[in-house]
Amino acid sequence: MKTSIYLDHAATTQLQPKALEAMLPYLEGHFGNPSGNYALGRQAARAIDGARSTVASLLGARPREIIFTGPGSESINAAIKGVASAQKQAGLGDHIVTTTIEHHAVLHSCEYMEKFGFSVTHAPVDRYGIVSPDAIAEAMDERTVLVSVMLANNEIGTIEPLAEISRVVRARAKSLGRSVALHTDAVQGANAIDLDVDRLGVDLLSLSAHKFGGPKGAGVLYMRRGTPFLAQMSGGGQERQRRAGTENVASIIGTATALAEVRARRDEYTSVCRGLTTQLVEGVLRTIDGAELTGHPEMRLPNNAHFSFEGARSDTMLDALDRLGIAASAGSACNSAATWEPSHVLTATGMPLRRAVGALRLTPGPENTAQEMERVLSALPNIVAESRAVAGREEQRHLGLAPT
Ligand SMILES: Cc1ncc(COP(=O)(O)O)c(C=O)c1O
Repeated sequence: MKTSIYLDHAATTQLQPKALEAMLPYLEGHFGNPSGNYALGRQAARAIDGARSTVASLLGARPREIIFTGPGSESINAAIKGVASAQKQAGLGDHIVTTTIEHHAVLHSCEYMEKFGFSVTHAPVDRYGIVSPDAIAEAMDERTVLVSVMLANNEIGTIEPLAEISRVVRARAKSLGRSVALHTDAVQGANAIDLDVDRLGVDLLSLSAHKFGGPKGAGVLYMRRGTPFLAQMSGGGQERQRRAGTENVASIIGTATALAEVRARRDEYTSVCRGLTTQLVEGVLRTIDGAELTGHPEMRLPNNAHFSFEGARSDTMLDALDRLGIAASAGSACNSAATWEPSHVLTATGMPLRRAVGALRLTPGPENTAQEMERVLSALPNIVAESRAVAGREEQRHLGLAPT
């Protein structure tokens, strides 16, 4: 069945026509290697310079502070591994603070550093997924070199108080007499949240182009001037020795074009998506017993409607939606195959297992319509009821109370 209603914009978005148009020349005639010492190479190098200036100005940064990377995961890996290992090498410490609700790109990068002698503290979140600035400060000690807190959660949409966290991290670092780098995984924040690195108060910020209408496999790492860093990709001197490898010229151009476009349309995006999300939330809570909205009621991404349906199962609901041509998700795109495993984010908020396995994430985009939301809302009550019935029968069978 063809997807006719796409409600999984947190997983990925369609390439914007403007980004495609800007990329095409670099996939065709303008194929030069930016390191080449001839006109074709210089043309590609100039295009990258332009893209770097665009991204820098959109983040309130200097062009030299922008590194073009592969996907968001690479940007995050570089930030965590590159900064932590440089600090350790300089004898400055070996402790990282992060949170329990980060994306696996952050959690697994921290786990990796544990293999090299780091210890990692995971600050807890409240039932809405909000990280308390004080919990971050408490987790820091005289060995801490890096703090990593996401800007907005990809599953439940909660927006973290980053500017406040930054103030607290700075104060605590000062009282400990040390400098601690603050990284934010802003992969879900590019469409709707202020990304000014000074207002956020961050030293490192990661973005992924395909979340905002750019190409897949391309990302950005903002790194504040003077941040200690050991490159994770060795080879040529590209990206000022911070990310070796011939640049993905077309993707870099597409990333900058798409980011400029979404930043220019931020208010319009926010109001359209908030309208669609509110329609979904109000409709679901009105028509389905036992439905709950996950995440913070106000401090949330305008396009995130994440629900838990007690007694239902994500996999059967997603299959039924798919049969109707509706694309949705249980949460993170990376673990949606394992719906029986409750998501670490939901577990961290204290959600009981019976609810966590019945999670459903609907993330509309600006091209969706109110009519489409109505179609989804009219299908959902039956889908949830059927999913609950199937789960109930399975439970009975499991307990040996029903024939197999
Ligand atoms: C919050 C967050 N961080 C990191 C990533 C990883 O980005 P990418 O898939 O571009 O590597 C994602 C993707 O789902 C995400 O939502």
